[in-house]
Amino acid sequence: MDHNEQQETTHKPVKRKEMSRRQFLSYTLGGAGAFMAGGAILPMIRFAVDPILQKKEKGAFVKAIEESKVTSEPQQVDFKVHQVDGWYESDPKMQAWITKDEKGNIFALSPVCKHLGCTIGWSGEEAPNLYHCPCHGARYNKEGKNLKVAPKPLDEYQVKRENGWVYLGPLEPNTRV
Ligand code: FES
Repeated sequence: MDHNEQQETTHKPVKRKEMSRRQFLSYTLGGAGAFMAGGAILPMIRFAVDPILQKKEKGAFVKAIEESKVTSEPQQVDFKVHQVDGWYESDPKMQAWITKDEKGNIFALSPVCKHLGCTIGWSGEEAPNLYHCPCHGARYNKEGKNLKVAPKPLDEYQVKRENGWVYLGPLEPNTRV
């Protein structure tokens, strides 16, 4: 190797790496495609997880009966509750036994027997002035106290009185017995 050749190899100019037209196009189109795909996919993901992100409506009260119609004799009242479970919305029919006590307080009992979940009824020849269950003979008094067969008192709805109406809220364990 002569002197000139040696100089050429030691002082080689730095080669700049240039992007080819093909690379430029593929980067540009790829980026634009990814952006557009993101625009289409993100709303789908948002839709898929939306029910999880929604705040659950807790403690909603439902109008059940006019206050003036509630007496000391338990009355069966039907009402509907709007339920949202993920993407599924429904309005199941609910039932309550509503009574006014001697102090004028209104309370509402669940009709679901605490033995195995049959629907109870009020009074009659078999069980005068008692709630009774047709399935295995459970008995409860007017306040929902379990007297026979059932291991627990009847559950109680939360009650709210407003503008002459009785509103029922979520069920809770009986607070009266
Ligand atoms: S379900 Fe009511 S007594 Fe058994």
